[in-house]
Amino acid sequence: MAVSTATILVLPGDGIGPEVVRPALTILQSVADAAGMVIRCEEAPIGAAALASDGEPVSQRTLEAARRADAVLLGAVGHPSADHELPARRPEAGLLALRRALGVYANLRPVQALPGVDQLSPLRPERVAGADLLVVRELLGGLYFGEPRVEGPDEAWNTMRYQRYEVERIAHVAFRAARDRRGRLLSVDKANVLEVSRLWRRVVTNVAAEYPDVALEHGYVDSVAMRLVLAPASIDVLLTENLFGDILSDAAAVLPGSLGVLPSASLGDGPGLFEPVHGSAPDLAGTGRANPVGAILSVALLLRHGLGRDDLARRIEEAVAVTLAEGCRTPDLGGTADTQAVAARVLEVALAAEVSRG
Ligand code: NAD
Ligand code: IPM
Ligand code: MN
Repeated sequence: MAVSTATILVLPGDGIGPEVVRPALTILQSVADAAGMVIRCEEAPIGAAALASDGEPVSQRTLEAARRADAVLLGAVGHPSADHELPARRPEAGLLALRRALGVYANLRPVQALPGVDQLSPLRPERVAGADLLVVRELLGGLYFGEPRVEGPDEAWNTMRYQRYEVERIAHVAFRAARDRRGRLLSVDKANVLEVSRLWRRVVTNVAAEYPDVALEHGYVDSVAMRLVLAPASIDVLLTENLFGDILSDAAAVLPGSLGVLPSASLGDGPGLFEPVHGSAPDLAGTGRANPVGAILSVALLLRHGLGRDDLARRIEEAVAVTLAEGCRTPDLGGTADTQAVAARVLEVALAAEVSRG
């Protein structure tokens, strides 16, 4: 359902996080404003920024504000200065606590060869042609959250655990997505070795009975990693568990040619969390070279999945495609434009579309 007034909690985070989130937010507010929609923004620190100001990577106050918001927009967390911190105080722990507090179990990561700029992929054009896939990554289970987790001086362990209901609910998200796309679902596991994966495969196969219109295929994560770069166009929806999804989605960044352009939507039963797939890129922070497209496309996902405005989401996605095809690109995509210039052009194109459509 479309909302005419929305409250967004903005968590810029660390490194290039603030540099990409601020221009993306300007685009969100301007496009919404032109459509007669009011966006109210609140801002809070997360990650190393929150460690510095609040003494913890995310405060209870911020988690409560996130639960009250209509949607949450996040930049990135992580800073080399926090590498020595205990696990619970690391910037990344703030992001994991936020995902858990929001109950966002379904992480959607669309990956496409960029229209008009396919040659930017390091892969041969004929391999990349037609690549358009959606990674559906389970976000609240597996090794990230499994207990026990222990680090001793000479031994350490983590627990990979899934319960049936966790696999069922993410499988339904993936089957529904496949039904709305090209009707193909590739479920990725390691069922030749892991008990957790055997459960995963059994549950996904059972859920498939409710979606006779979707063709289900299972694949082992190692061979799917190869297929992702050898035959990406053969994949429609790729469903997988938390860690496999983390790894495969960064690998899929070779299709558009940069990690900097991938967006994500994390959805549960309450407010969604929208963030680029990339991290805080300490190597780029402060240089003006960060690609804002992942954050801008995350704002488009926020409009679509968080605020029910598919029309405005498309307008931003089209403006991004035009901007990149014109050659207005940051250095990771072979261009010379800086973060601000790319974002400014996307905004200009998006608003011109608004005027021409009346
Ligand atoms: P990263 O994603 O920050 O960077 C990986 C590579 O991609 C680097 O070469 C970087 O320059 C490049 N890159 C990333 N974003 C880019 C952009 N917008 N434009 C152009 N190039 C871009 O991953 P990393 O270096 O492994 O991790 C750095 C920190 O970020 C770590 O602390 C890590 O834990 C954290 N991290 C956070 C998130 C998140 O907040 N969601 C995601 C991944 C990593
Ligand atoms: C991502 C990141 C996070 C993850 C880290 C920073 C906790 O890599 O969003 O992909 O592993 O989920
Ligand atoms: Mn990742």
